[in-house]
Amino acid sequence: MAAATTTTAGGGTSGEGPKIVWNQPQQRFETEDKKAYLQYALRGGGGVMDIVHTFVPPSKRGLGLASHLCVSAFQHAKTNSMSVVPTCSYVSDTFLPRNPTWNSLLYSEDLKSHM
Ligand code: COA
Repeated sequence: MAAATTTTAGGGTSGEGPKIVWNQPQQRFETEDKKAYLQYALRGGGGVMDIVHTFVPPSKRGLGLASHLCVSAFQHAKTNSMSVVPTCSYVSDTFLPRNPTWNSLLYSEDLKSHM
């Protein structure tokens, strides 16, 4: 089993958030049971995290789980000086409008020449 970096994505209530695990081989951030996950693809030689899909089982939706997954992914991108492409509509249409401070990490056209 590959080593995984674990982060607890706090949504403002420290210690209350679900444990989110970085599954590096599968390019995912996921819950420990792997049932909820955020899938990304690396672009630009690894400097760009393209978030392609977010999934939460129907029985767990509406509780902010996808938001916790996004916080872990954006924190990881920030720590590693990566840009983010919000291909997943949950990220672009819901998470970012509700958490606009993360907009600063978005991949910008200016960087395209470096890809
Ligand atoms: N695009 C954008 N926003 C969406 C969405 C979608 N496809 N599906 C749900 N949302 C919004 C809802 O409007 C909801 O808003 P509300 O809080 O006003 O009710 C909000 O997401 C819920 O946020 P949160 O609790 O953090 O998300 P979640 O844990 O319920 O998970 C999804 C959200 C999208 C991951 C989950 O509904 C899911 O797995 N859907 C099926 C797969 C999918 O469509 N993924 C997104 C496209 S890649």
